[in-house]
Amino acid sequence: MSSTKELFLPRMGCGTWAWGNRLLWGYDESMDSQLQEVFNLCVANGVTLFDTGDSYGTGKLNGQSEKLLGQFDQQYTGVNQEKICLATKLAAYPWRLTPKSMVEAGKASIQRMGRVDLAQMHWSTANYFPWQEEQLLDGLGDLYEQGLVKGIGLSNYGTKRLKRIHAKFSLRSIPITTLQVQYSLLSTYPVTELGIKETCDELGIKLIAYSPLCLGILTGKYADPSTYPKGLRGLLFKRLVPEAKSLLNCANAIAQYRQKTMAQVAINWCIAKGAIPIPGAKNIKQAQENIAAQDWELDSGEVAELDRAAASIDKPMVQNVFQTK
Ligand SMILES: NC(=O)c1ccc[n+]([C@@H]2O[C@H](COP(=O)([O-])OP(=O)(O)OC[C@H]3O[C@@H](n4cnc5c(N)ncnc54)[C@H](OP(=O)(O)O)[C@@H]3O)[C@@H](O)[C@H]2O)c1
Repeated sequence: MSSTKELFLPRMGCGTWAWGNRLLWGYDESMDSQLQEVFNLCVANGVTLFDTGDSYGTGKLNGQSEKLLGQFDQQYTGVNQEKICLATKLAAYPWRLTPKSMVEAGKASIQRMGRVDLAQMHWSTANYFPWQEEQLLDGLGDLYEQGLVKGIGLSNYGTKRLKRIHAKFSLRSIPITTLQVQYSLLSTYPVTELGIKETCDELGIKLIAYSPLCLGILTGKYADPSTYPKGLRGLLFKRLVPEAKSLLNCANAIAQYRQKTMAQVAINWCIAKGAIPIPGAKNIKQAQENIAAQDWELDSGEVAELDRAAASIDKPMVQNVFQTK
């Protein structure tokens, strides 16, 4: 029995990696009340896709991002409620080895979130344990066939692998609804090198752009090294921000001319490329700014200028280690 209720995918969504992630993003519980407001504001403005993962949140906060998202969804009663799409990503943990373990993982996420609309395979194990991947994908298909989720998606897959997995699911008449990859002005690789957008279009799969602000760098607020975040993110910024200078100047010039912000230019560029960006917002101000990126469009000349500036960068953002070809 497969679920018949259609998934609604808006032009842009909202990421929730920072929600519950203390180690990497400095989350603390005092942020929760603002996050409910972020959720409400997004939905009321048509940003109805929320992406999380069962690996978001660490230690005692394990599963916290999913729990928060479920709570926010249950408390929301306003406009666009019926369009909300709760998406999670199920991790290919080394102890998940069978289709059943994937179904159990999906059920645990449903328990935490109240429901899961879109269940995604978080990453492919093709490069290091291909046998495991087959099992986990079978389980993902079972979640769909048993009507436990409305749709399934993939994450960090390249063109060749995606075609293979698409053929595998076709044998069971299971559609792949979405693919998410790291896609931004500082991470064009999946599209420009792998050609993933064309493949998604051919196969009827929607492309989701994760980290569309390149972890905040594309907002331009990290121009001064003294403002870099602490930890791993700061180390990455130390290399990447100077490297991205010409691109940031280009995005800033367009933002000023259009009287928009650089974050809005970066998000708008993803939309112009036919992807659904899912920028993470930590507070109301960020959410307001990101949402407003939907209200206007870059023209083709501006997109071309940004493309040129992006292509001129020697060492862009590193790719996710699990990204396949
Ligand atoms: N499939 C995967 O493997 C994978 C991997 C990574 C992410 N994702 C998904 O993609 C989502 C978004 O990616 P991400 O969080 O990695 O990166 P992102 O969206 O590129 O950057 C998010 C960060 O940028 C800053 N920011 C956001 N909006 C802003 C604004 N308007 N003005 C100024 N700063 C702003 C915030 O951090 P600061 O305030 O600290 O600067 C925020 O946490 C995640 O939540 C997750 O759902 C998926």
